[in-house]
Amino acid sequence: MITPYKDNKSGKKEQVAQMFNNIARRYDFLNHFLSLGIDNIWRRKAIHCLKDISTEPVILDVASGTGDLAIAALKLNPKKIIGIDISEEMLNIGIQKINKKGYQNIIELKKGDSENIEFDNDFFDGLTVAFGVRNFENLNKGLSEMYRVLKPGGKAVILEFSKPRLFPVKQLYDFYFKAVLPMLGKIISKDSSAYTYLPESVNAFPEREQFIQELENLGFKNCTFKPLSFGIATIYVGLK
Ligand SMILES: C[S@@+](CC[C@H](N)C(=O)[O-])C[C@H]1O[C@@H](n2cnc3c(N)ncnc32)[C@H](O)[C@@H]1O
Repeated sequence: MITPYKDNKSGKKEQVAQMFNNIARRYDFLNHFLSLGIDNIWRRKAIHCLKDISTEPVILDVASGTGDLAIAALKLNPKKIIGIDISEEMLNIGIQKINKKGYQNIIELKKGDSENIEFDNDFFDGLTVAFGVRNFENLNKGLSEMYRVLKPGGKAVILEFSKPRLFPVKQLYDFYFKAVLPMLGKIISKDSSAYTYLPESVNAFPEREQFIQELENLGFKNCTFKPLSFGIATIYVGLK
């Protein structure tokens, strides 16, 4: 299993929470800087996939972090968006941002584990995750919990990094992701592992048809995937 801190004896979940607590204050800046702002375009595209869910939907944003996907989901005119995450520091930054923008009546961020979601079965109209599933300790458990809390007919949208396959994007990506990004990430985030864990975890993650298979095995229907920016990220969609 790929974990952030190689010499650390605790499990992946604790290590992931620790890593995001460490980098939380610089996370938003690093995201936009290292992706040249493309991350927000990807989030908007992911949210667009939910445009046909029910009116005034109730949405769960899993692994919500600093809340950028939850904020993007306001486009759907939701009744309520709940964001859960295991990193308190990420949530604190998100809560400050949401309060500052005046969205606190619609978006609620709170501590919660995606592998053990505290909501009843069939509760949410829509479910979103951006760059979260790759970090789960137990992917199957996390995805099955997401399926459980969705209403029948509800839709899940998952945005995750993937690996481009075509020349020369693949070569440029490998150089940037494996050499430039860990170096810049280390200097700016002050966490020497976070940005080597990123390419390693992307490399180990099941993508495209393989990930669709994981969704279908759990009961998701009409599953599709759409590569973005030459396959650097992929949006997966599934219905309950
Ligand atoms: C790369 S960040 C993504 C944050 C946000 N979704 C975004 O788009 O920027 C990944 C987040 O997943 C969270 N995470 C990882 N495993 C989790 C779990 N089991 N339950 C809840 N959150 C989890 C981390 O704490 C972290 O905040």
